[in-house]
Amino acid sequence: MPLHWTSALDALDWEELSALYRAAPLGDKSPQGLKTAFTHSMFRFLVYEDGALVGAGRALADGIDCAYICDIAVLPSHQGTGLGRELVSRLVEASRGHRKIILYAVPGKEAFYEKLGFARMNTAMAIFQNQAQAVERGYLQAPREDPAK
Ligand SMILES: CC(C)(COP(=O)(O)OP(=O)(O)OC[C@H]1O[C@@H](n2cnc3c(N)ncnc32)[C@H](O)[C@@H]1OP(=O)(O)O)[C@@H](O)C(=O)NCCC(=O)NCCS
Repeated sequence: MPLHWTSALDALDWEELSALYRAAPLGDKSPQGLKTAFTHSMFRFLVYEDGALVGAGRALADGIDCAYICDIAVLPSHQGTGLGRELVSRLVEASRGHRKIILYAVPGKEAFYEKLGFARMNTAMAIFQNQAQAVERGYLQAPREDPAK
């Protein structure tokens, strides 16, 4: 069955997108939250097979300096078919011209991105809404007792 790629959001069923992320799995993302995130993303791809959403991803970009790729997910039935690679490759292509294209991986998925040309950053840092949970899930190092040192 041929895949249909689009960046258009007008026909997107946000509940279906939310279900895709739950199934992938990539967490519980509310339809309304996804609408906000995808609407504000300069680049995004939605992949359909026979009218059903099978993959999605987006990049938040400022048009010159930085593009941040996130929310890459493929339905389990379609994983391992090259679709994830194609999604990231298209977002990287769309983001060309930006001085840096950044992302962070779900712990354990780093090799997927390394195969696509991403290298580890030495000084990446983040403030998560829930820092303790981010530490627990392996996204952040535990804060140092004396950060000034
Ligand atoms: C991670 C994910 C997007 C990969 O998509 P996919 O369509 O299954 O992957 P592809 O078939 O395009 O694989 C491309 C390459 O990456 C490799 N790869 C795929 N998943 C991998 C993983 N978890 N770890 C290491 N390598 C991986 C494949 O073996 C393949 O390598 P090859 O080109 O040498 O054969 C998909 O499995 C998924 O949606 N997972 C759940 C959600 C998630 O974790 N998203 C990523 C958030 S960081």
